[in-house]
Amino acid sequence: MNPDLDERARAILVANDRGGYTIPTAGLYPYQWNWDSALAAWGFSSFDIDRAWTELETLLDGQWDSGMVPHILFRAHDPSYFPGPDVWSSGTTPSSSGITQPPVAASMARLVWEADIDQGRARVAKLFPKLQTWHRWFMQHRVREGAVAVTHPWESGRDNCPDWDIGMAAIDGSGVGPYERRDTGHVDPSMRPTREQYDRFLTILYWGRNVAWDAERIMADGPFLMADPGTHFILMRANEDLAWMARQLGEDDKEIMDWQSILKGGCDFIWNEALGAYDARDMRSGAFAGVLGSGAMLAYYADAARPALDAHLMRSWDAVRYGLPSSDPEAAHFDPRRYWRGPAWPFLNALIARGLAMSGKQQLAERLRRETAEAIEQGGFSEYFDPIDGTPCGGPDFTWTAAIWLTWAGLGPTPS
Ligand code: GLC
Repeated sequence: MNPDLDERARAILVANDRGGYTIPTAGLYPYQWNWDSALAAWGFSSFDIDRAWTELETLLDGQWDSGMVPHILFRAHDPSYFPGPDVWSSGTTPSSSGITQPPVAASMARLVWEADIDQGRARVAKLFPKLQTWHRWFMQHRVREGAVAVTHPWESGRDNCPDWDIGMAAIDGSGVGPYERRDTGHVDPSMRPTREQYDRFLTILYWGRNVAWDAERIMADGPFLMADPGTHFILMRANEDLAWMARQLGEDDKEIMDWQSILKGGCDFIWNEALGAYDARDMRSGAFAGVLGSGAMLAYYADAARPALDAHLMRSWDAVRYGLPSSDPEAAHFDPRRYWRGPAWPFLNALIARGLAMSGKQQLAERLRRETAEAIEQGGFSEYFDPIDGTPCGGPDFTWTAAIWLTWAGLGPTPS
């Protein structure tokens, strides 16, 4: 406990509140982002339970008729962000992006409910069918070979990690036309994705927009389709939490448990035996990325870890001072300050630590909490940190960094 930092973290959540929904950080990310918002709800549950429920409610208010919950909800126009609502052209209200993000919301809803077990029932009862519809959409429109695939690197939430390099290399970004990035006006360009990467991000976006975000066409013919261990494990864990909520509510959990069998079977598809780890995989060519990334470490969070993963976890972690690196510090692509190509993300640590604790690795969970807390104590509530020297990077006063401080990093040993 550190009263000053606790106070500061609460102030960040309150300052980033735009009236029922929270932005990740002012300037760089001025809208409601999907998994950021779910994490914000968890943070709010530590001091304002009503506001925590509202966050989940506004997120799910943006659900499409198809069941998808978009990765960004554009509730109030802010020209400081690109690509904005006019570029995505979702045609929905509120307008939104046309892709989703890792479905961590059901797991956060469970945590919020556990913090409000007596009063929360009525609110969770309204959220439950929406969450189930979203998970059903995932199972229908994003699962192939039993594995969860992403149709855009942004859908994984780990936007430019090396996991996507082989899929991105297959894309010709040369016809993208002129555009003006806004992200590099807010933070140091050396920390952000490169111009070539951005051209390809937009090429994939335009392809989806041109087919009016038809999920089946995007899966069948879209320019990018890669199995993502990170989203796979988050959905597995979220299904467990959704099934738990179903049982508490007296609902049938059979459909959800059937999904779990499919995803458990799909773990083999994303296990790269040569690497000895879970690995992203190009669904078009079948090729593995050959990258040890933080998505694989979410296997602990889904109770799907395999012994060979332990060695990689320790090797990559011991190579840095502030775990966990978002990609392998011993690989050529490692870049300690560039977005998702090396840095440590506090909120991802919170999820992985829960997994480590659940897997009986209490000491490792505690080490991860301590290292995350130290980085925050020294550098503030930044978006992410250089895992070698702890330098705070990206946007400041970040919602999910504040949220996990209040619910995990600032507290003490992680409960299993
Ligand atoms: C970046 C991250 C993504 C996050 C968003 C807002 O795009 O890669 O995971 O949701 O920023 O914080």
